[in-house]
Amino acid sequence: MDLIKRPRRLRAGGNMRRLVRETALSVDDLIYPLFVVEGEGIKKEIPSMPGVYHLSIDNLLKELDEVQSLGIPGVLLFGVPDVKDEAGTGAYSHDGIVQRALREAKRHFPELLLVADVCLCEYTSHGHCGMIHEGKILNDASVELIARAAVSYAEAGADIVAPSDMMDGRVGAIRKALDRNGMEDKAIMAYSAKYASAFYGPFRDAAHSAPAFGDRKTYQMDCGNKKEALREVELDIAEGADIVMVKPAMAYLDIINEAAGRFDVPVAAYNVSGEYSMIKAAAQNGWLDEKAVVLESMTAIKRAGAKIIITYFAKDLARWIE
Ligand code: PBG
Repeated sequence: MDLIKRPRRLRAGGNMRRLVRETALSVDDLIYPLFVVEGEGIKKEIPSMPGVYHLSIDNLLKELDEVQSLGIPGVLLFGVPDVKDEAGTGAYSHDGIVQRALREAKRHFPELLLVADVCLCEYTSHGHCGMIHEGKILNDASVELIARAAVSYAEAGADIVAPSDMMDGRVGAIRKALDRNGMEDKAIMAYSAKYASAFYGPFRDAAHSAPAFGDRKTYQMDCGNKKEALREVELDIAEGADIVMVKPAMAYLDIINEAAGRFDVPVAAYNVSGEYSMIKAAAQNGWLDEKAVVLESMTAIKRAGAKIIITYFAKDLARWIE
């Protein structure tokens, strides 16, 4: 053989591969999601998400200590309240579970970035992300409550608020409400292209937030659509999003790639519960090498264009990347 081009030259050994590698994961890229519950001394594993727990605030603080010492820049907090009602009051009440968790977290770990997921579905008795009238999910009335929730999280210590409801106009409403309350410095990470995905199944077990009727298809996006995702991203940036997110990640790498190519704000990708649990289940059965598959998947998400990866594997990754 008389070849001039021999791409294998650059794969010849570990150091050579390291030298030419285009995408490398860093602990800097990671956000770790956590579920806070009422009570004390609680650390209860979520059955459909092995290795992920319901944590009461005291145990949350222990977790944050570990997250900080692993060098992970931030956490994303979800609340699982004891009481839910029609209007999702727990999402925006001064003493809501996430508000209390944020205050404690900020007091003990002032440097750690605290991201608060902003949505109503964990707090509404019907499990929808907005207010309901005659079986319909209202947009503007929901946005008002969502903006209130965002302000109360920011007041409690969130550095970033992350609206995940997919109501129209919520990013603009949140930006205005934050600014009006003197919180111009608080950032918005918008779940901009959030698809109506079956991959959220385990999360809904964890947050007890499965909708009591119907589904989320009138607000979350249809999985066949890409142009629509780009319009959503564009709108959110125009309304004041500092970071835009694509969710889920693995089945939507093309969306991440397009969004990152087209827009100049950081793109985040949410490696969601179902993506996590699939790998966990296969690994527990001995069918997949967990570490290798996770590193490969996360590298793919970053290679597609995500600067930020929100993943339940964040602590494992931080250890593996070291
Ligand atoms: C709340 C919310 C959901 C997730 C993040 N924020 C659930 C949903 O929209 O039903 C999913 C996260 C995951 O699956 O890990 N709206």
